[in-house]
Amino acid sequence: MMARSMADLLAILAQRVREALDRAFGESARQADPQIRPAQNPKFGDYQINAAMSLAKVLKSQPRQVAQQLVDALELDDWAEPPQIAGPGFINITLRDEALGKLAGELAADERLGLAHTDQPQTVVVDYSSPNVAKEMHVGHLRSTVIGDAIARTLELLGHRVVRQNHIGDWGTQFGMLIENLIETFSDDALMGMSFDIGDLNNFYKAAKQKFDTNLGFADRSRKRVVALQSGDAETVELWRTLYVKSLEHFDRTYDRLNVSFDPGDGDIRGESFYNDKLPGVIEALDRAGLLQTSEGAAVVYPEGFVGRDGEPLAMIVRKSDGGFLYATTDLAAVRYRVNELQARRVIYVTDARQKQHFSMVFKTAEMAGWVEESVHLEHVPFGTILGEDNKPFKTRSGETVKLEDLLDEAESRAAAIVAEKNPDLTEDERQRVAQVVGIGAIKYADLSNDRIKDYVFSWDRMLSMEGNTAPYLQYAYTRIRSIFRKAEVEAESLGGQAVTVSHPAERALVLKIAQWPDVVGQVAVALEPHRLCNWLYDLAVAYSAFYEHCPVIRADDEPTRRSRLALCDLTCRVLKQGLHLLGIDVLERM
Ligand code: ARG
Repeated sequence: MMARSMADLLAILAQRVREALDRAFGESARQADPQIRPAQNPKFGDYQINAAMSLAKVLKSQPRQVAQQLVDALELDDWAEPPQIAGPGFINITLRDEALGKLAGELAADERLGLAHTDQPQTVVVDYSSPNVAKEMHVGHLRSTVIGDAIARTLELLGHRVVRQNHIGDWGTQFGMLIENLIETFSDDALMGMSFDIGDLNNFYKAAKQKFDTNLGFADRSRKRVVALQSGDAETVELWRTLYVKSLEHFDRTYDRLNVSFDPGDGDIRGESFYNDKLPGVIEALDRAGLLQTSEGAAVVYPEGFVGRDGEPLAMIVRKSDGGFLYATTDLAAVRYRVNELQARRVIYVTDARQKQHFSMVFKTAEMAGWVEESVHLEHVPFGTILGEDNKPFKTRSGETVKLEDLLDEAESRAAAIVAEKNPDLTEDERQRVAQVVGIGAIKYADLSNDRIKDYVFSWDRMLSMEGNTAPYLQYAYTRIRSIFRKAEVEAESLGGQAVTVSHPAERALVLKIAQWPDVVGQVAVALEPHRLCNWLYDLAVAYSAFYEHCPVIRADDEPTRRSRLALCDLTCRVLKQGLHLLGIDVLERM
C-alpha cells in the first residue's frame, strides 16, 4: 500500500474510480481492484479501466452495462474528457491537456517527483553480493551485487528500513589449508603486522589447494588447523582474521568502484563465521521442533514437499557425521537472526538461480520449525547466468572464471577510448572521470536491464553503444538536457513554480511517461525486478527525444512556451537522474 501524493496520477485516478464504484455499486465494490493502467495503444486513450468485466461476473450483470454505470458515476471532469466505453466493457480515459500541464507543474514542484513514502514501512533485510574470503570476486558476484544494491536503494527510497547483509563465505574446512599456507608463505612479523601482500587471492587459493593435494604433511597440518580454528585456538583465529581483513580490503575496492556500499560499522557484513556459535542452537531447536532425524550418522531434516529423483523424501543435511555444519545450517541460523534480532518482516536473498532449491528447503524448514510468523516473507530473488558470445557461461579465453576487477578495468579503458574519440576537447581528468562513470555504468546497466531471471550474453559493443537501451544512451540524454540549460543560460532552479502548458502530442506523451514514475518504482519494489525500471527509463529517454525533435525549446515561439518547455526538460532530467541513482549509476554534466 502506498500513501497518496498530490502528484501521483495513477493513485489519483484509482481513487476516483474507487469512489465511483462505491457510488454505483455500494460499499462492497469499493474493495474491488479498479484495474486501471496506462493504455498500451494511444488509440484507446491514455488510461484504461478494466474493472467492468470482472465486476459483471460478481454482480451477474452485463459488462457493458456495468461499464456504463461506472462511467455515469465517475467524476473525472477536472482531469479527463468524457470516458469512452469500448469493446466488451473497457473504459478509455483521455486526459485533458490543461490537466497534464498542471500535473507536470506539480511534479516539478515535488522533490520526490510524485513518489509518496509507503504508509507501511517495514524492516527489510537484503542479502546480496556475498563473495567468498580468499577468493577474488568474479563475474558471478556482479549480478548479485548490482541487483541487490538496486533493490536495497529502491526499498529505501520508498521509506522502508533496509538492512544490508553481506553473507560472506568466510568459514569452512578450506580455511585449514589457507591458514597453513599463510604460515608457510610469510614471516611471523609480516603476518602479525599485517604488512604482507597476498597479491592475487585466486593464486593464493590455488597454491594452497595444490599443496594440499600433493603434500601429505601439509594436508595433515591443514586438517589439524581446521580443528584448531573450530575450537577457537587463539593464534589460528588471529591468522584467520588476517586473511579475512585482507580479503575485505579487496572487496571494498571493488564495491567502491561499483558505487555499492556496505557499512561494516553498522553490521552489514555478516559472514558465515558470524553464525558459527549459533549452529549448535539451530540443531537443538530443530530437535525440539521434532524435525531432526539421523541418516547414516548425519543429522538431517526432511522439509515437506521435496522428493529426490528416486521419489524418496529429500533430506537436507544440517550436521555431518563428523560433527561439521553446512551451508544450510548457517542459513537456518541466519533466518533466526534476521527475524528475531534484526526484526525483519521481509528477507530478500539475491543469488544465482542454481541456489533455488537450497533456499526453498531452508525456508520450508524454518517455517516448519515455527521460526517465521506468517507475516514474515522470505524471498529468494534468483537471477540467470552471464554468457559469453558463444552462449556458454562467460569465461576467459583460457577457460578461467573472469575476475570482476579485470572486467571493471576493461570497461573503463574501452569507455576511455570511446570518449577520447567522441569528445577530444575534454581534459585528461575529465576524460578519466567520464570513462569511469560511463564504463562502470555500462556494465551495471547491461546487467540490470536484462530480464533478471534470464541468462544474458555479455557484449562490450552492445553495452557501450550510444544507441538503444544502454547506460551511455541514458547518460547522454541527461548530459544533452544539461547542455540545453547552459546554451539557454538559464538555471534550472530559476524555473521553480513555472507553469507548464501541454499542447503538442510529444509533450503529452512525455508528461504521461514521467507521471508513471511512482508506479514504476512501486512495481520494482514488489517484483524486485530492476529491469522494469531500466525499460521505463529507456522509454522515457525515447519520449524525450521525440519531444526535443518536435518541440523547439530554446527557439520556442514565445517566452512562456520556452520556459514551459525548459521546465519539462528539467523535469525529465531529474527523473533520469533519480532513476539511474536507484540503479547505482551516476550522471555527468558533460561527456
Ligand atoms: N557465498 C555464496 C556464494 O558465493 C552466496 C551466499 C548467499 N547468501 C546466503 N545467505 N546463502 O555463492
